[in-house]
Amino acid sequence: MQYSEKVMDHFMNPRNVGEIENADGVGMVGNAKCGDIMKMYLKIEDDVIVDCKFKTFGCGAAIATSSMATELIKGKTIEEALALTNSAVVEALEGLPAVKVHCSVLAEEAVKSALADYYKKIGRPIDFEIESDEHEDEE
Ligand code: FES
Repeated sequence: MQYSEKVMDHFMNPRNVGEIENADGVGMVGNAKCGDIMKMYLKIEDDVIVDCKFKTFGCGAAIATSSMATELIKGKTIEEALALTNSAVVEALEGLPAVKVHCSVLAEEAVKSALADYYKKIGRPIDFEIESDEHEDEE
């Protein structure tokens, strides 16, 4: 299995690891098959993600994809963060082996689940799906 330098970098030195106290949105997702879990914390001001941290109990690719996902949504609007797909995360990491694509799906879902939590808190109707369409292809 071959990992890109970017993946190795984000695995060895993950960005934005940790928790945010009094986060505006917290999301937790897991993959039942591999048992990996990702938790995402968001600080949101005026619909902009001003800070974002994560904790991942999972494989190296799960750590790298969640690290990259936080980098991609930090400073972005909610709308932009909702548009983040797992393939964009994979692309930013310069690719992932096929058997590891589900790890990037987890990262996308963690972001959406944290945003859904934020929507719930502020009473905004959740008008997006958390589960990625690519969930079925995770074998
Ligand atoms: Fe399941 Fe990576 S092996 S998230």
